[in-house]
Amino acid sequence: MSKTEALDKKIAESKLGGGEKRIEAQHKKGKLTARERIHFLMDKGSFEEIGAFVTHRSTNFGLDKSKFLGDGVVTGYGSVNGRLTYVFSQDFTVLGGSLAEAHAEKICRIMDLAMENGAPVIGLNDSGGARIQEGVVSLGGYADIFYKNTLSSGVIPQISGIMGPCAGGAVYSPALTDFILMVEHTSYMFVTGPNVVKTVTNEEVTAEELGGASTHSTKSGVTHFACANELEAINNIKKLLSYMPQNCEEKPPVVPYDMNMDESRPILDTIIPENPNQPYDIKDVISGIVDIESFFEVHKNYAENIVVGFARIAGRSIGIVANQPSMLAGVLDVEASKKAGRFVRFCDSFNIPLLVLEDVPGFLPGTDQEWNAIITNGAKLLYAFSEETVPRITVITRKAYGGAYDVMNSKHIGADMNYAWPTAEIAVMGAKGAAEIIFKKEINSADNPEEKWKEKEGEYSELFANPYNAASRGYVDEVIKPHDTRKKLIRAFKMLEKKAITLPKKKHGNIPL
Ligand code: HXC
Repeated sequence: MSKTEALDKKIAESKLGGGEKRIEAQHKKGKLTARERIHFLMDKGSFEEIGAFVTHRSTNFGLDKSKFLGDGVVTGYGSVNGRLTYVFSQDFTVLGGSLAEAHAEKICRIMDLAMENGAPVIGLNDSGGARIQEGVVSLGGYADIFYKNTLSSGVIPQISGIMGPCAGGAVYSPALTDFILMVEHTSYMFVTGPNVVKTVTNEEVTAEELGGASTHSTKSGVTHFACANELEAINNIKKLLSYMPQNCEEKPPVVPYDMNMDESRPILDTIIPENPNQPYDIKDVISGIVDIESFFEVHKNYAENIVVGFARIAGRSIGIVANQPSMLAGVLDVEASKKAGRFVRFCDSFNIPLLVLEDVPGFLPGTDQEWNAIITNGAKLLYAFSEETVPRITVITRKAYGGAYDVMNSKHIGADMNYAWPTAEIAVMGAKGAAEIIFKKEINSADNPEEKWKEKEGEYSELFANPYNAASRGYVDEVIKPHDTRKKLIRAFKMLEKKAITLPKKKHGNIPL
């Protein structure tokens, strides 16, 4: 065998991972292999592998007879939509994709290269966790990755696709990244699995119920996307990347756009119902404002009373945070505050301007909320907005009540431009409740208290259930007709394009975690 033939043989061996039988087993579970995932993620022919011949160095428990080239993770770089991207993809066919010293070193190398060259890292997870035979070096390997995840946070985008098991401490690397995508029925994430749960708490629960894609996309919010299959997950990763810059020093890519096209959007005049207590779908407002079909919702099924996602306006990426009146009247609660706070933080890290659409009746009252720290969690969102230095604009479509008015990117906490539609109501609270409190004596002593209450409600409503009081103080820059919103936003975001402000010098702030 010539030396080149020997090399070819080694390459072929490495490409086969844990062997044909295990690849077949992987396919039987409805899963792709580590290499197939990379094939679908990267632009055709662009992937360059690094460390294909790396093996572990352990002799414990017969591991010396169980060596596989690549050590259970395929790592390298290539391009996604023409842009440099690093990837590591765990190979479940090799020792269950378990992570130990060499496997971790390969991941760390990719993360280092990504940081040094300012490009995103995509991690495709499919692993039985710490390689049990290698003991503490596996734990060390995880911690090395966690540390790099943390240092990379806010410098380069990090995205985790969970394509199979991700259990134990292994969950914390994805949790430290910017976005997590899970695949329905074939992936799960938990700190302790169903058996341990049964032993410790006596709860009977399946892996899917405990930590499947549907659980984490609705109940815990751990994952941002629950995808029907692996290809959908990979396509969503590509789509996410398309809105982001390569690193925190750059601006997001601009998609070519004809500035003369469809600036007026008459559909926006028809969305807000006559009755201020009637719900409507804020996503109709979003699609009425942004470039056609550019809205990409994040965290779709979690805390649906607030909507977050990316979009483009005149070809430029923006992040959107919008109260959703059709779910719990768009109220702010613990989950909504955490969801929006984290999204705002991502946008600010990566120079993505923010649009806030506001229709919020206030914070959700109740023991459940108070005992689950709505104070601390609401403060997360307030803090995240206040610290933002990217261009940020608010449009108040209807209600802007109470503390929620302040929190939702008000002028007072640094918004650059605030618009209101004529249907806006900007006040301390709803007119009915306000009248009951401030005119209590008058109402109670009236011959017809109901009628008096209505009269006082009307007075309060006339004074405050509109945008003009706020506009007279400059809290609202302009009251605009809904159909003009898109045009106003295109111009305002363009005007703010070179915005540069600096925060007070500090080591880092103390966000209410
Ligand atoms: C070594 C492992 C492994 C592991 C799986 N394998 N997990 N080898 N270390 N952690 C091997 C199996 O021995 C088997 O090898 C092959 O991978 C496929 O595993 P199966 O069990 O046959 O597959 P499946 O039935 O699909 O079950 C997958 C699984 C199960 C649910 C992930 O393998 C499992 O429960 N593994 C252990 C999970 C675990 O407890 N991990 C440690 C968590 S603690 P052969 O040769 O037979 O093909 C942890 C701490 C991290 O991760 C801390 C960081 C701070």
